[in-house]
Amino acid sequence: MEEVAPEAAKAKTAAPFGTAFTSRMTLARYSDGQWQGVENVPVGPLPLHPASHVLHYGSTCFEGLKAYRMPDGEVKIFRLDQHVARFQRSAALLCLPQPPADMMEAMIREVVALARDDIPEAPGALYLRPTLIGTEENIGAAGAPSAEAMVYVLASPVGDYFAGGRGLNILIEDREMRSTPGFGQAKTGGNYASALRHVVRARKEHGADQVLFCPNGDVQETGASNFFLIDDNRLLTKPLDPSFLHGVTRDSVITLARDLGYEVIERDFTVDEIKDWIRTGEAALSGTAAVLSGVGAFIHDGTRYQVGDGGVGPNTRKLSEALRALQSGRTPDRFGWLS
Ligand code: COI
Repeated sequence: MEEVAPEAAKAKTAAPFGTAFTSRMTLARYSDGQWQGVENVPVGPLPLHPASHVLHYGSTCFEGLKAYRMPDGEVKIFRLDQHVARFQRSAALLCLPQPPADMMEAMIREVVALARDDIPEAPGALYLRPTLIGTEENIGAAGAPSAEAMVYVLASPVGDYFAGGRGLNILIEDREMRSTPGFGQAKTGGNYASALRHVVRARKEHGADQVLFCPNGDVQETGASNFFLIDDNRLLTKPLDPSFLHGVTRDSVITLARDLGYEVIERDFTVDEIKDWIRTGEAALSGTAAVLSGVGAFIHDGTRYQVGDGGVGPNTRKLSEALRALQSGRTPDRFGWLS
């Protein structure tokens, strides 16, 4: 890809995460059983019929991935193939037409090329948001998939999602789950909507940054990221099952940690084990937006449990820095994740 001019993007990354957009996006429509050509259009209001399937029955899914400016000025996308594959799996779960992988990759690359003057220097990035919606005009289709759809790729120059690099405050919710046992793996707005009231309450009543969902003590994920326990030689995280989001960053952290000599344990664990672990160990959240962000304290049943000194622990810092260095091309791409 071409070289970029980072200056133009600096003001935009100062805006809150996800509130500033580049000027153009790619868009494709599905009708008559096929995808109809990709357009390059200005970012602006979409003409949507008020009866559109998505507005009534939630037929939508999305992705979140990032393009980084390398030290030599080239721009590369982090784990594009994995994000496109997950987008297709989400589409299948939502009974939406799956956009072909080659079409999606081309749409994403075109948006990145169009945004070349808006891509900030690392640690900033261009956050990419492919979005698929059911557009059939039919409010009677509650029990039928949308026969028409639209996919578009929006781009937003971003800085850190959790500003300041401080230890996060996480409320443990041990009665309800974020989504449902079979649907948590779908990256769909409904799952974020389902978590929202808990996150709002956590912020308002406890000053927390996020909620960790642990129904009946089973530690699952937060409202917008996966979860790890970390110590000097080990990482512990829940094994993949359909109840929670299969994070591409989760997979990247696991691969990188193993490469750095950590033992990675994937097994179910409980809230009590978190409390034991943080007597000496660390905890962190992973996601495209969060990257790997350290937990400073948990709040459970009105009690605060501090992690270490309340800041970001040394192993979390080490892994986070290794991941960021890889994403932004400061260390060799030894896993072939940039393209
Ligand atoms: C992501 O990490 O890409 C997400 O979807 C989280 C979102 C809340 C920004």
